[in-house]
Amino acid sequence: MYRIAPSLLSADFARLGEEVRNVITAGADWIHFDVMDNHYVPNLTIGPLVCEAIRPHTEAPIDVHLMVKPVDRIIPDFAKAGANVITFHPEASDHIHRTLALIRDHGCKAGLVFNPATPLHYLDHALDDIDMVLLMSVNPGFGGQSFIPGTLAKLRAARERLDAYEAATGRQILLQIDGGVKVGNIAEIAAAGADTFVAGSAVFGAGRDSDPHRYDSVIAAM
Ligand code: DX5
Ligand code: ZN
Repeated sequence: MYRIAPSLLSADFARLGEEVRNVITAGADWIHFDVMDNHYVPNLTIGPLVCEAIRPHTEAPIDVHLMVKPVDRIIPDFAKAGANVITFHPEASDHIHRTLALIRDHGCKAGLVFNPATPLHYLDHALDDIDMVLLMSVNPGFGGQSFIPGTLAKLRAARERLDAYEAATGRQILLQIDGGVKVGNIAEIAAAGADTFVAGSAVFGAGRDSDPHRYDSVIAAM
């Protein structure tokens, strides 16, 4: 089963509730919510108040991608604001196991995010505490960047690892990809092993007029 998670980073921030409703109506599965702090990454976006504001607009899972450092103190706020999935970068946490437990103790699914050059060995002692692995296929901070081709080999390695884990434990861990995902490369990315696809500019680049169906064809093509 595949999931499409449009990233609000490229949405019209003046009309977020409407954008959320439109992409879900168009067939998207999750809402990807990029949180940037102008410290861990060189950009500043949205926080728990905005998560709370969009929560009534959809029943779809809100997938919060934290690009913030430190990470722990903001987690309870996002859980209260209605987040369903919370992911963070291991470099941004002093105690990865503690941060994963904090997310799950607040009733959310937890995931680790790997930057393009971050090795997968962070998974070695964490798989039992993870619900999703997110591989970045661009450097975090901005939408609209190009997919880094080397991510495909990393995806295949992660897929192998997660399949072996599922065979041994019966527990499925999702494998998400984020950055430069387009209609033209999504099949290749799926073949490399991803099951959950973040797409920002590819979806919201489809226009900012008020036609509620302007995303339908892009999401259907994915
Ligand atoms: C980048 C964000 C992504 C971004 C993806 O740091 O994590 O979620 O919005 O945007 P596109 O799909 O345009 O590469
Ligand atoms: Zn993201």
